[in-house]
Amino acid sequence: MSESKKTDYLVLVNEDNRLPENFEETIEIITVKNAADEEYSIEKKTYEAFLRFRDDLLENDGIQAELISVYRTIPQQEATFNRYVEKFGMDYARKYAALPGHSEHHTGLAIDVGIMLDGKLIRTIEGMLELNHLYVIMQSKLPKYGFILRYPKGKEAITKIGYECWHFRYIDSPELAKEITDKGICFEEYWETKK
Ligand code: DAL
Ligand code: ZN
Repeated sequence: MSESKKTDYLVLVNEDNRLPENFEETIEIITVKNAADEEYSIEKKTYEAFLRFRDDLLENDGIQAELISVYRTIPQQEATFNRYVEKFGMDYARKYAALPGHSEHHTGLAIDVGIMLDGKLIRTIEGMLELNHLYVIMQSKLPKYGFILRYPKGKEAITKIGYECWHFRYIDSPELAKEITDKGICFEEYWETKK
């Protein structure tokens, strides 16, 4: 990747902010596998940080974190959104899936993390919410590895997305991740302070 193409790890993508044009050209995407042998595309530094995070959780907390969704193209997001609408209705889809073009999964910097329990990878929204107590442990370690919890509880009116205990966003700065987390603000509120 050319040195002039610097990844903007602080890019804000949400309902009001579409993925910047050509953003994908500024990221280094690699292909990796999870323990279930499924292949994912992910931004390189995000994956390196995830591996350190994963090892910490496994060694110190006995939690096996596995990637269940990372980079998604706009057509893939459209398919995800439409699947949610068909299965659960529009309100549910709007709560847990960004509109195509407005998902930070397009950046390669967002990860959805499932938990391997007794050989079974828990990856449904309901299943992951039931394991919230384990996600709370996971979340406490996010800043150390440069991640933030992107859709926190209590910030739904601002993020426009329901609480997602499993969706973490890499911002490439443990210091900033800690600052955002300690202040109890979401990423949109961090951006407001920058205006
Ligand atoms: N689940 C998040 C909001 C997304 O679809 O990008
Ligand atoms: Zn996600």
